Amino acid sequence: MNVTWFDKFLMTEGRMAPIEGALLHALALAACRNTSSGVILELGTFRGRSACAIGAACKLVGMRLITIDNWCQSNSPSVGPSSREIAERNLADVGLADTVTVIEGNTREHRLLGGLSMIFIDAGHDKGSVIADFETWWGDLQRGGIVAFHDCGAPGVAAALVDLRARYPIGLVAMAGAIQAFQKAH
Ligand SMILES: C[S@@+](CC[C@H](N)C(=O)[O-])C[C@H]1O[C@@H](n2cnc3c(N)ncnc32)[C@H](O)[C@@H]1O
Repeated sequence: MNVTWFDKFLMTEGRMAPIEGALLHALALAACRNTSSGVILELGTFRGRSACAIGAACKLVGMRLITIDNWCQSNSPSVGPSSREIAERNLADVGLADTVTVIEGNTREHRLLGGLSMIFIDAGHDKGSVIADFETWWGDLQRGGIVAFHDCGAPGVAAALVDLRARYPIGLVAMAGAIQAFQKAH
C-alpha cells in the first residue's frame, strides 16, 4: 500500500482532526506564495501528526519545516522509542526526513532560523505560554506570512488571542475545527 501523508496523519497519535490537518496543508502552500522565506516553524511536535500535514506541503513546493518540542510530558521512563524517535520515524515513513528538521528544546528559546513564511503554535496552551511563543518568533515572520494556533477554544489560547489581536497587526484569514489562522499585515 502506498502510504500518503494523510494516511500517516490519521495513523499518528494526536488530537488534531483531519479537517485541521487539511487546513494546515493548504495554509503552508498559501504562505509559500505570499512570502519569500521558504521556512515554516512548528511549535509542538508530539508524535508528528501536524508535521506530516505541513511537511508534505513544504515538500511539494521546496520549502522546509522546522518543528520544536521538549517532550517533557510525553516521554515515559519505560524502554522503547522516545517520542522524538517516533515523530522522526513517522515523518521518514512518508518521505519527509529531508524536508522536516526536528529540534529537541524549548519553544521559547530563540534560534536564528532566518525569515519565516508561517508559524504554527501548538505547544503550551496556557495564556502566558501562547503569548511567549508568539512573541519569541513574531519578529522572524515575514510580512504576509501566516501565524496559526491550535486549540483556540481552550481558555488560555482564547485569552491569548484576544490580547495578541489587540496589540499586533494580524488579521483572521481562515479557521477550521480548533485552528485559527492570521496573516501578518503587509
Ligand atoms: C498538543 S501537543 C502538539 C501536538 C502536535 N502538534 C500534533 O499535531 O500532534 C503539545 C506539545 O508541545 C510540547 N511543549 C509544550 N510546551 C513546550 C515548550 N515550552 N517547549 C517545547 N515543547 C513544549 C509538549 O511536549 C507537547 O508534545
